Amino acid sequence: MAVREILKMGDARLLRLAEPVRAFDTPELQALIADLFDTMEAANGAGLAAPQIGENLQLVIFGFSNNARYPDAEPVPRTVLINPVIEPIGDAEEEGWEGCLSVPGLRGVVPRFARIRYRGFDPSGQRIEREVQGFHARVVQHEVDHLIGRLYPTRMRDMSKLGYTSVLFPDLDAEPED
Ligand code: NI
Repeated sequence: MAVREILKMGDARLLRLAEPVRAFDTPELQALIADLFDTMEAANGAGLAAPQIGENLQLVIFGFSNNARYPDAEPVPRTVLINPVIEPIGDAEEEGWEGCLSVPGLRGVVPRFARIRYRGFDPSGQRIEREVQGFHARVVQHEVDHLIGRLYPTRMRDMSKLGYTSVLFPDLDAEPED
């Protein structure tokens, strides 16, 4: 499998609506998922969406037990989520810092629903349904936004809270790329 190039903000391929996955449990799907994990792990990411490597499909991965880019985040189970749908539980929002491998070097404060229910499928076509909160809810909302062509800066309400990771969080300097 392979570490793939991650598209960066400004690339029109990040702005498309992704197509649903129609065939599960295929070698092509397994190969794509393996590439996504290799690419995410090489970049120390918390999540990655297929459109970020130029594959216009409704497929995201996320999860970590301990992430160098988000040292204070609680663990999120390693998940492949296909054809996802998100539903907020209540109106409560939380603000939190986000970064994105397609927006390297920057962090911004983004409002997200505090609690969500998400549904979708795993790679073999089994249903996934979870109710989550906190960083898990944030990561899923961020990744699923990639499937509708949204990058986190377009969700920000206060652009004064966008800055360079190296300035905002100098202790994270071990990752110069983001
Ligand atoms: Ni992202």
